[in-house]
Amino acid sequence: MAELGIFQVMYSTRALRRYKPDPVPDEVIAKIVEAGTQAASGSNDQNWLFMVVTDAAQRQRVAGVYRKAADRAHMADYIKAKFSGGDRTGRLIANSVLHLLEHIHEAPVLIVPCLKSGNPAAQDPKFRERMGRLEGASIYPAIQNMMLACRALGLGTVLTTLHALYEDEMREVLGLPPEYTTWALLPIGYPTDKFGPVRRKPVAEVTCRDRYGNPWPGR
Ligand SMILES: Cc1cc2nc3c(=O)[nH]c(=O)nc-3n(C[C@H](O)[C@H](O)[C@H](O)COP(=O)(O)O)c2cc1C
Repeated sequence: MAELGIFQVMYSTRALRRYKPDPVPDEVIAKIVEAGTQAASGSNDQNWLFMVVTDAAQRQRVAGVYRKAADRAHMADYIKAKFSGGDRTGRLIANSVLHLLEHIHEAPVLIVPCLKSGNPAAQDPKFRERMGRLEGASIYPAIQNMMLACRALGLGTVLTTLHALYEDEMREVLGLPPEYTTWALLPIGYPTDKFGPVRRKPVAEVTCRDRYGNPWPGR
């Protein structure tokens, strides 16, 4: 298979939520995680930890936390209401989200990217108030790298964060020490659906030049 260029990879990395049961070899998982570890983090601290869950019983437990959070967020009702009466694409997305909800434990690999709070200054309440919202900036670049690596290796995945509603339970299931927090849950497997293209707003709609309101490119 010819190697895809970086832009081909980015433009076709869409949410894939249905997977074949085929196991993903450990060498392939290692490549995905290694791609994650090539990302930047604040001060190059690399305080990340990637929990790779392949054991079937452990996948059930992790999936249980995701489902419990989805129930609490009334996700199924929300998705059905949002997409009911919509176009075909909307219905396909709704079915895909609901499928993942029921079958997430069947993904052969679940990765939970975690961060260890390392910087003592970051524990200061004032710092947290102002900077807390930036904490994820030291893990989401790694997560995106892993998603792109999945695409390049022919694997499907989707970023989910809902389980954070039951963060303590997820930590308990994974046996994580208290200094670690979890930032996402990525189900990974060989997809039964096709890759991209993704549908996104045009650049001109989401870009300004110099000051808010000035259109791009605009000159
Ligand atoms: C922060 C975040 C949380 C998400 N949570 C879920 C989720 O819980 N379940 C799910 O099926 N998809 C989830 N997604 C996937 C999005 O629904 C998906 O990326 C979006 O609809 C765009 O789809 P596309 O990439 O296929 O174009 C999440 C995506 C992001 C960025």
